[in-house]
Amino acid sequence: MKNVVSNIKARLKDAAVKTFGDSLAEISPVVDATSNPTFGDFQSNIALTLAKQLKQPPRAVAEQIAAAFAADDMCEAPSVAGPGFINIKLKKEYLESRLNAIKKDERLGIARPAAPRSVIVDMSSPNIAKEMHVGHLRSTIIGESIARTYEFLGHKLLKVNHVGDWGTQFGMLIVELREKFPTALTQSEALDLGDLVAFYKQAKKHFDEDEDFKARSRQEVIALQSGNPDTLKAWRMLCNQSRQSFEEIYAILGIEDLQERGESFYNDMLADTIKALDEKGLVEENDGAKCIFLDGYLNEEGNPQPLIVQKRDGGFNYAATDLASIRYRVDVDHANELIYVVDAGQSLHFEMMIKAARKAGWIPDDVRVAHVPFGVVLGEDGKKLKTRSGETIRLKDLLSEAVQSARQDLDARLADKGKEESADWKDEVARSVGISAVKYADLSLNRMTNYVFSFKKMLSLQGNTAPYMMYAYVRVKGISREGGIDLAKLDDNARVILDLPSEMELAKQLLKFDDVLEQVIAEFLPSRICEYLFDLSQKFNQFYEAAPVLSAAEPVRTSRLILCDMTARTIQLGLSLLGISVLERM
Ligand code: ARG
Repeated sequence: MKNVVSNIKARLKDAAVKTFGDSLAEISPVVDATSNPTFGDFQSNIALTLAKQLKQPPRAVAEQIAAAFAADDMCEAPSVAGPGFINIKLKKEYLESRLNAIKKDERLGIARPAAPRSVIVDMSSPNIAKEMHVGHLRSTIIGESIARTYEFLGHKLLKVNHVGDWGTQFGMLIVELREKFPTALTQSEALDLGDLVAFYKQAKKHFDEDEDFKARSRQEVIALQSGNPDTLKAWRMLCNQSRQSFEEIYAILGIEDLQERGESFYNDMLADTIKALDEKGLVEENDGAKCIFLDGYLNEEGNPQPLIVQKRDGGFNYAATDLASIRYRVDVDHANELIYVVDAGQSLHFEMMIKAARKAGWIPDDVRVAHVPFGVVLGEDGKKLKTRSGETIRLKDLLSEAVQSARQDLDARLADKGKEESADWKDEVARSVGISAVKYADLSLNRMTNYVFSFKKMLSLQGNTAPYMMYAYVRVKGISREGGIDLAKLDDNARVILDLPSEMELAKQLLKFDDVLEQVIAEFLPSRICEYLFDLSQKFNQFYEAAPVLSAAEPVRTSRLILCDMTARTIQLGLSLLGISVLERM
């Protein structure tokens, strides 16, 4: 079944074609929620956009489309307002029948696509032997939410972790490994290399200060590239250790099925990738490096800005690997959508790399390739997030601090109420609330906004936060608990009846969810889910204030219980798409 908005769009188009002919068969009318409910529920500017082409005043176009509009049992006859807006008001009976049709549906009436798309989300992607930083955290949280939304809608999904596991830095790391742990490569059991970030710093120091170390590092790079088994073993050891620490973070965040396909995965394809670009005449030598020049890209001095694909020393770089990844994802994975969730600092790289791939003819017309950028994380002082002593924050510490803060809040609340709970229960609630708060704080903003990291704000029970939404769920469920009612077992024949304005508003909001999810994948904006859920909880509150549930007489009582049930399930589903699990009690 079509969602409400696409249904209206289709009817507007039909009316336009019926009135003005087949030349309008390809139009896609824009339909928005009205800002003022006295005008109705939705508004379209279709007449304003067609007026010029039809050589008629917009208002006249609007009146003709409104007259031809098949309102049927869906809405009242449309009205025309202002310069030519068409206003549409849904009928109460339509809202009732839609809710009744989907009230028992596990998917809340959200249809699966006729043609599921195959989608790859490139997300997280930290670098081996380096700290996974807040930028990677944002990529992980945003990527996961986009992936979950696609998956729920019924698309085929692959999440890939494009870890930085290749490059010249491994030369020095391997030499450091041999020096510091001479037995590492000969002993059979795995060795704990300790803090890899400190290890990296040490290696870098030796590399910068010791010429002999530097020379040996270069040898190791060559050995690694030529596949020397001993060097590969050392490389693998470093990767494994890093992987373990990344896995810890993924476990805390509840990230599953993230397939690691690091830069090294594309190694064998790089030479061929550059050769293919060269054969298409796209590669130019510049200062010994192989580059692609694209129209309109200039550097600060106003000279053409190259996309370097092969360095002077013959080494392939980041761009070469990404070009190979596009080819692989299109040709081998047969993906229809390639989504790269990477910080906005890399926008130029992605823009140029995607354009270059297009120029090479590697992206078929029906394949969508998108860089999904996001802003930086700031501390409460408005500067880049750092520890008090000015160092980069370790994600593990950050997440455990979130859990600790949530625990403090919980303890304080319990003390206020004079309530006792088991330590296990408190741990579980704090863990869930703390991690959810971090996710929600990130996702609730437009991702391009630089976001200020504040435990206090993200854990607040007021405002658009995870604890607020998780509470909203608990409260809605509390109504049925109080009445001793199992919402899952409401009579199948019971019907939703909408009487009060607040019931109508809640009903409309419930029926908007599928449209919101379509927007999320159209614009890669999980924040739309947060906005929607917050709105839903407000509408529910207004409903609950105006409409007693348990004390109402039948059949109104059951009708209202159904509205409660659908609200709870919508919140639960919405939060799950943000990577957040609800609690039944908190
Ligand atoms: N490892 C990179 C970094 O930390 C991110 C990789 C993003 N994905 C990609 N296909 N380039 O900056």
